[in-house]
Amino acid sequence: MPSIPLPKDLRINAARFLADFEALAAIGSTQDGGVNRPALSEAHLQSRGWFRERAERAGLAVSVDGAGSHFARLACGQNPARSLLLGSHLDSVPMGGRFDGALGVAAALEVLETVWDAGLHLPVDLEAVDFTDEEGTLVGLLGSAALANHLQPAEIQNPRGGRQRLLDGLQRAGLSEAGLFQAGRDPASLAGYLELHIEQGPRLERKGVPVGVVTAIVGIVSYRLVFEGRANHAGTTPMDERCDAGLGAAGFMLAARQLVVQSFPECVVNVGALKLEPGAFNIVPGRAELALEFRSADQQTLDQLQQALLALAEQEARAAGLSLTPVFLGRHEPAPMHPAMRQAIGRAAADLGLVTLDLPSGAGHDGQSLANLCPTGMIFIPSQAGISHSPHEFSAWHDCVNGANLLLQAALNFNP
Ligand code: GLV
Ligand code: MN
Ligand code: MN
Repeated sequence: MPSIPLPKDLRINAARFLADFEALAAIGSTQDGGVNRPALSEAHLQSRGWFRERAERAGLAVSVDGAGSHFARLACGQNPARSLLLGSHLDSVPMGGRFDGALGVAAALEVLETVWDAGLHLPVDLEAVDFTDEEGTLVGLLGSAALANHLQPAEIQNPRGGRQRLLDGLQRAGLSEAGLFQAGRDPASLAGYLELHIEQGPRLERKGVPVGVVTAIVGIVSYRLVFEGRANHAGTTPMDERCDAGLGAAGFMLAARQLVVQSFPECVVNVGALKLEPGAFNIVPGRAELALEFRSADQQTLDQLQQALLALAEQEARAAGLSLTPVFLGRHEPAPMHPAMRQAIGRAAADLGLVTLDLPSGAGHDGQSLANLCPTGMIFIPSQAGISHSPHEFSAWHDCVNGANLLLQAALNFNP
């Protein structure tokens, strides 16, 4: 008779995990090896169809909440009123990589199936989750904020991806605005949240460490800045008489970088999109619109950085004879990870013989929505050359398997 492995010796099925990962990478795949699955796009919805089909095939109970987040439940708990959530997201940034999010969802499904195959009974049920719009092409952390009951109506009225894009996506997915506000989950039903993700930065690889234990997730603020001047003939308007909105935008971009490098060394700032209007070779731009995002792991520093950047934008606008309209688009608070989760990951890594590094996350994650709701933790694996949000994002497969085994063992180790 084959012997039943002790929970401590249990390992995921790496071949099944790889097949799932590759199936996801094929959905919305791009020629350069990445994926293009912005939230609630056709390709994203197709990946969610895959999730439903895959989970049902494994005998898991699938449900979808009012924000479209997908859940697959394994009833393995002695206290089935509570679940330990394992997961990530299947949406990608535009022209993104195949690992960001999908790895954590595939690993969560694989952990549930491994526990099911082993016939284990745990203190709580396990649920694999695929959250909606983690990446912020629509709102950002939309599914997890809805689940955590802290989605604000203003975020839906004026989302950073544009209101029409959000409405189109909701319609494509068969969701409604009202439904977004009905996705709140009773915190008493949650034992915790645990996510496996690629690091998306270079630290683990540079140190030669296979696993990161996340200490905290960075806070993120986004704004649209609108500089307005006067559109005019590009050939006949003297250089010293122009109200060039593009100059205000360019001046701000350079000065913002300098400000952060000199005065906020632990922070980052990014202008990820710039639109000049009317937008022609021979017209001085009358309007410039910037997509501004800045991040800090510390709440107070984030406030100070916000103040400093807005003052700087005002100063640049004035210097170029422009008006400035800053439009606030959202804020995700920095979130420390729960000590009990960090310990569970650390113990499991020691059992697996994996060296760990404690590190903060400079990327946003759904865990920052859940951190106020239930014990939350994250596991990172190395990203090759630290590249992410790019089709060139890559992690070695043995690191992915280590990460999934660690997710499994941390889930078994976690004492709710
Ligand atoms: C999500 O990956 C983000 O950090 O923007
Ligand atoms: Mn991600
Ligand atoms: Mn991402």
